[in-house]
Amino acid sequence: MPLPKAELHLHIEGTLEPELAFALAARNSVELAHKDTEELRRAYLFEDLQSFLDLYYGLMAVLHTEDDFAELADAYLERAAEQGVRHAEIFFDPQAHTARGVPVGTVIEGLGRALEASEERHGISTRLIMCFLRDESAESALETLHAAKPHLHRITAVGLDSAEAGHPPSKFREVYEAAAALGLRKVAHAGEEGPPEYIREALDILGVERVDHGLRCMEDPELVERLARDRIPLTLCPLSNVRLRAVDILEEHPLPRMIDAGLLCTVNSDDPAYFGGYVGDTFHAVHEALGLGEERLRELARNSFLASFLDDDEERRARLLAEVDAYDFEVRRPD
Ligand code: HPA
Ligand code: ZN
Repeated sequence: MPLPKAELHLHIEGTLEPELAFALAARNSVELAHKDTEELRRAYLFEDLQSFLDLYYGLMAVLHTEDDFAELADAYLERAAEQGVRHAEIFFDPQAHTARGVPVGTVIEGLGRALEASEERHGISTRLIMCFLRDESAESALETLHAAKPHLHRITAVGLDSAEAGHPPSKFREVYEAAAALGLRKVAHAGEEGPPEYIREALDILGVERVDHGLRCMEDPELVERLARDRIPLTLCPLSNVRLRAVDILEEHPLPRMIDAGLLCTVNSDDPAYFGGYVGDTFHAVHEALGLGEERLRELARNSFLASFLDDDEERRARLLAEVDAYDFEVRRPD
């Protein structure tokens, strides 16, 4: 049995493996730009966030029906369970689908169907986080929130993703206020490619509880001190940072320094179909490349449950934390 863990930074569209993409393309009569799965995989050499996003949004053209979204989520959950995931908080990008004529209800109900069966089928409790595309307008985000209102019982939080540079969190103040008034919790990507100031804005203007990535806080010692003092969780994605060139090589990832600075770090997979590994693979990679020992890995797993939105099920959180504490690395390699 692998180390039990929660995944807190996972874009469901980023779990679309080439095989499923081609199967859905055939089913929905969608023509893909690449001729087969091998050619598609060869295209996964990214310059930066934008070059990845271009391919990521393009491939979503295969997702049309509720069944497609349910199948996508179920395939992820099955893989995640094999890697020790016991709780998953899953992002989705409604605007990437509504822009193609897929109603927001199709997306949420399809994903929701897979998620509601997940605990029984895969042993994974789930939460759903609806992200706004920060390179679209604030009005579009508000319209999306409004359109999702009949389905909000399935959604725990709002998030903010897509191309970061030039799209500060402050642009979305109003929609975050509206989301909070509807009882939704708040997270946002900040400090992946954007400056430390965007992390401050996410905290001070949007009032987020967690920062997704947050990597560039390391350029601002005062901000690091604040994040550590206030126990603001960071959902780091080391394999993503290498593939999107935020860091040159995994061996140079600042994760060990971030832990040493007292930051509440978690380790996640972001878009595992594109970045070379699911979250168990990511734990294994940071163990190998960064020399994080077993007790450090245990701490990262504990952090994942502590930082999760399991506040409405403290009994489950306590049970999962106890499983982490009791985990015996002697028996299995730490993946
Ligand atoms: N960053 C921003 N937006 C995203 C990402 C990411 O890594 N993955 C999917 N949407
Ligand atoms: Zn992300």
